Amino acid sequence: MEKLEAKTALVIGAGGALGRAVVDRLLEQDIGRVFAISRCSNKITDGRLDWWQCDYSEESIDQICAKLKQLACPISTVTICNGTLHGANYLPEKRIESLESEAMLQVYKINAVIPIMWIKSLLPVLAGKHKCILSVFSARVGSINDNRLGGWYSYRASKAALNMLLKTASIEYARRAANVKLIAFHPGTTDTPLSKPFQGSVPDEKLFTPDFVAAQLLEIVGRVNPTSGLEFIDWNGKPIQW
Ligand SMILES: NC(=O)c1ccc[n+]([C@@H]2O[C@H](COP(=O)([O-])OP(=O)(O)OC[C@H]3O[C@@H](n4cnc5c(N)ncnc54)[C@H](OP(=O)(O)O)[C@@H]3O)[C@@H](O)[C@H]2O)c1
Repeated sequence: MEKLEAKTALVIGAGGALGRAVVDRLLEQDIGRVFAISRCSNKITDGRLDWWQCDYSEESIDQICAKLKQLACPISTVTICNGTLHGANYLPEKRIESLESEAMLQVYKINAVIPIMWIKSLLPVLAGKHKCILSVFSARVGSINDNRLGGWYSYRASKAALNMLLKTASIEYARRAANVKLIAFHPGTTDTPLSKPFQGSVPDEKLFTPDFVAAQLLEIVGRVNPTSGLEFIDWNGKPIQW
């Protein structure tokens, strides 16, 4: 089996609570190198960490992927953490009257478009013989089957769009980069700035720490069947209906 020391991980959206927790957990392991991508500057000191700032424009995503390709590191784990639920000018919509196209487009861009732009640009970086698990933070509320409560139009729809983009990419990756397996991952409700305003009705035992979720994700990544197709799974490794 390949030694962990030889492995490289890539974490995109590393400045968020879950992204930072994934970086911290990876560095606790005997990983060779971690590339972390964020809009923010680095707050972690570790010789194995390369922290690159990015504005998530297509140009900057392409530039970073070109640098990664040039470095030719064997990337075995990619985690894409980007996502938004509320911002300065938008909140999850409770009623249809609250829908605003500008806010909807912003949420779609961060939750669906930016992750798939990474997956597009990473194809030539990841394609090869080296096994790689590429996980993207999705959300259970993106499940069309599971939508019983309604509300949260933009967040739900953008995560459902993300899931469809991942499904489509997984079919093309199976042809062009069969060494890469994709996972759409639901972390469960986790205590982060994203969920902060909506934690009121969540019992303590169901509100996870970012560190717990990062550990669960990396444990799943370590044991998942790398040759099976895209899976939509939760923090416990349980499948979620599409
Ligand atoms: N917390 C939960 O309960 C929960 C539940 C289900 C799913 N999730 C998903 O988990 C993921 C991580 O979220 P979190 O809870 O850790 O929230 P967070 O702390 O608010 O992190 C936000 C993440 O989104 C990125 N981001 C924020 N605004 C952005 C923008 N304008 N353009 C591009 N990227 C932007 C950040 O990347 P930078 O490093 O560049 O800042 C960071 O990775 C999200 O995809 C979220 O939908 C969370």
